[in-house]
Amino acid sequence: MHRKKKENWGSQLGVILAVAGSAVGLGNYLRFPGQAALYGGGAFMIPYLFSFLFLAIPLTWSEWALGRYGGKHGYNSVPGIYWFTGKKRFWGYFGTMGIVVPLFINMYYVYLEGWCLVYAIQYFGGTLRTLGLPSYTLFESVSPGLALGSTEQYSQFFAGLVGMQKDGAIFSGSILSPLLIITIFCVLFNFFLIYRGIANGIEKFCKIAMPLLFVCSIIILIRVLTLGNPTGQPGQSYFDGLGFLWNPTRDGKSLFETLNNPEIWLAATSQIFFSVSVGFGLILTYASYVRPKTDIALSGFTATSVNEFCEVVFGGLMIVPPAIMFLGISALTPEKLGSSLSMGFIVLPNVFEQMPAGQIFGFLFFVLLFLAGVTSAISMLQPAIAMLEESFLIKRKWSVLITFLFCATGTSLVVWFSQNAMMLDTFDFWAGNLGLFLIATFQTFMIAWIWGSKNMFKELDEGAKIRVPRFIGFVLKYISAPYLILIFALWAWKSMGSRLQQLGSDPVAQIAFGMFITTILFFLLVTHLAMKYWKKFEDHSKVLEEIPSKKEITK
Ligand code: ALA
Repeated sequence: MHRKKKENWGSQLGVILAVAGSAVGLGNYLRFPGQAALYGGGAFMIPYLFSFLFLAIPLTWSEWALGRYGGKHGYNSVPGIYWFTGKKRFWGYFGTMGIVVPLFINMYYVYLEGWCLVYAIQYFGGTLRTLGLPSYTLFESVSPGLALGSTEQYSQFFAGLVGMQKDGAIFSGSILSPLLIITIFCVLFNFFLIYRGIANGIEKFCKIAMPLLFVCSIIILIRVLTLGNPTGQPGQSYFDGLGFLWNPTRDGKSLFETLNNPEIWLAATSQIFFSVSVGFGLILTYASYVRPKTDIALSGFTATSVNEFCEVVFGGLMIVPPAIMFLGISALTPEKLGSSLSMGFIVLPNVFEQMPAGQIFGFLFFVLLFLAGVTSAISMLQPAIAMLEESFLIKRKWSVLITFLFCATGTSLVVWFSQNAMMLDTFDFWAGNLGLFLIATFQTFMIAWIWGSKNMFKELDEGAKIRVPRFIGFVLKYISAPYLILIFALWAWKSMGSRLQQLGSDPVAQIAFGMFITTILFFLLVTHLAMKYWKKFEDHSKVLEEIPSKKEITK
């Protein structure tokens, strides 16, 4: 162990809730229903299930195992764990991606957190009004509860709020934009939690936020299930909504025709990665703080199951059906379905407006999204904090400050370059797509082929309450790894060309890319210096191990 003091989770329940908190996010409640409805409803569930069984489950277990193994040897950072396990500098350098990717996702995710909080406050004003209390609204032009009327108006409101019309729009009003103040609050709140540490910050918050999130979800689901056919229009009952989302055949296409489109496989795989938080350094870092002998086999499975429950049951039953019930199928155009943001911030507010007591349910829904957002966003900061702490051996406050400087810069860029959410979209492409696929592929390869199934199962069995099936080793090596390479190649073939073209001509894309490369270079340098120190330490430990102890000498 190259460090004297090391943090740990306070309890097994705590780590399960923290990992589940990292996984359950906007991806479950907004992205999943949108993607499922867009890519053929029930048909989407076939590649989705395939990715869940052959990627999410094996990768999750392997990541928990590798994480705790690294943690036991004093490494909490992705480069540290990769370097120690892969035994080559290359792995350490590659591990920097496991810091930079989550950091960049955090930079825009926190802005979305801000949107959710703004909407929640807006509904809160409306709720107070319906309860006969004084109303409060952040926007003079909008009445409390977002009573705007048509989808077009909701769309305009949303575009105006987040500054879609032009760059710098939210800085140009005569008063300070409420969204700006709230985004600053969200950034500070995330860093406050991270500063308080693993057990006192992340774990404590997730222990409160996750049950609350469940309560809000159940209340909204009950409301949705008891609506009947609110408009009385044919084809707009709850079951019509469910049929739209879950029927395997739609638009006259056979199941085979729908599945024959590679995009549906790509979409399902991306959804699984984003949603389960697997393959980009988050679970790896969290698992490194698990104490030796604490069960990870069942914990990993439980956290992933909680995520799937929130995604398929809550996300699947409570978002798309009410939209069909109140607005009809015509409201769910491909643009609305494809963009999880339109679904959440344009379609659903219109639904809440028409739902009895919709202001209360709108409030609960955006509070739930906000909580889901915070528990995910904080997990994206911890990899950088862990790296800075264990490479420079600095105190938490300094590692938090350095990470804050990066995030504050990145989020400012996202907020400023708001026209058509260009910066957000570009960060999402380089980090949330390319980076995520790269890390997941390389990590799976390293675990399956270099670290090996034997070591993985040894780690998983330690303190385990269940025995992980041994065929998982085979799946990881011969199904997950090749499937990932195939999907990655497919993705690169489909998306890279246009993005590289954009990079050549669009200044916003160039700034985003520049920031991405600068951050990678910074963490490469940190990793380079850290590896020198770690190597010295490991060599020194080996020498110490070889020196006979006093006892052995006197024997
Ligand atoms: N897993 C997180 C989500 O689904 C990132 O939003």
